[in-house]
Amino acid sequence: MRKKISIIGAGFVGATTAHWCAAAELGDIVLVDIVEGIPQGKALDLYEAAPIMGYDARVIGTNDYADTAGSDVIVVTSGAPRKPGMSREDLIKVNANITRSCVSQAAPLSPNAVIIVVNNPLDAMTYVAAETSGFPKERVMGQAGVLDSARYRTFIAMETGVSVEDIQAMLMGGHGDEMVPLPRFSTIGGIPVSEFIPQERLDAIVDRARKGGGEIVNLLKTGSAYYAPAAATTQMVEAVVKDKKRVIPVAAYLTGQYGLNDIYFGVPVILGAGGIEKIIELPLNEAEMVLLNKSAAAVRSTLETLKTL
Ligand code: 2OP
Repeated sequence: MRKKISIIGAGFVGATTAHWCAAAELGDIVLVDIVEGIPQGKALDLYEAAPIMGYDARVIGTNDYADTAGSDVIVVTSGAPRKPGMSREDLIKVNANITRSCVSQAAPLSPNAVIIVVNNPLDAMTYVAAETSGFPKERVMGQAGVLDSARYRTFIAMETGVSVEDIQAMLMGGHGDEMVPLPRFSTIGGIPVSEFIPQERLDAIVDRARKGGGEIVNLLKTGSAYYAPAAATTQMVEAVVKDKKRVIPVAAYLTGQYGLNDIYFGVPVILGAGGIEKIIELPLNEAEMVLLNKSAAAVRSTLETLKTL
């Protein structure tokens, strides 16, 4: 049976996610947006590329949520992106309303779907999507850790000159400047990264990874990143539709893990067809826990702001 992937929001992140999901033949794609013509045009264009590129995926664009019925995965990308000088938190009000509207229309039509949230502020928007859908928490998650760790891996590759393929890096926490790259759990070809990079340079890389989203916003000036966010989302979609049991960081609902409760927060999980099948608890040391708690406090404060809106 072919899988069905609905992507809500036909902007840069949504359309690029559709592109990579189609190219990887992860399933048939439904691209949804409120703007008439945009999802239809981008979807048709992408479908017409299939005979050339040789991927077998049906791609449709629509303004009607009825077309998303029976989806295996729903990806929520709609919302305003950041502009230079804005934090992800500045987007909270407008994006909370958009998230509620999208999820309340899509979730009832696909009651067994896994929901992957991509809009910002990520951890809070994932909380909103979980609340709005009423889905079991393991079937609602946020995409951030794969993206943030990819940036961290890229910077390690730039520093060392070795293949990105051999760099494994773990990163936890909220999708904000307080996120926690974990050099102690990062390796190159299985060898601790500290064997390759002196501490001072590693600290600079960690700092750059934390601010990686802002670096792109400052370069683009008119919006935020989309290639790497879409690639990260595609990896999560693939883990679900192929039941891959990937061990990757995602924003997951915590019920006491790492001493945190009732919060969506980036942690390593096993991701498969059932969504988050297990949350992995790493043995963090005291210094790492301090950083993690600082990041959790930042997410908590965004959630508090959400309650006042
Ligand atoms: C980023 O980090 C858009 O939050 C996204 O680039």
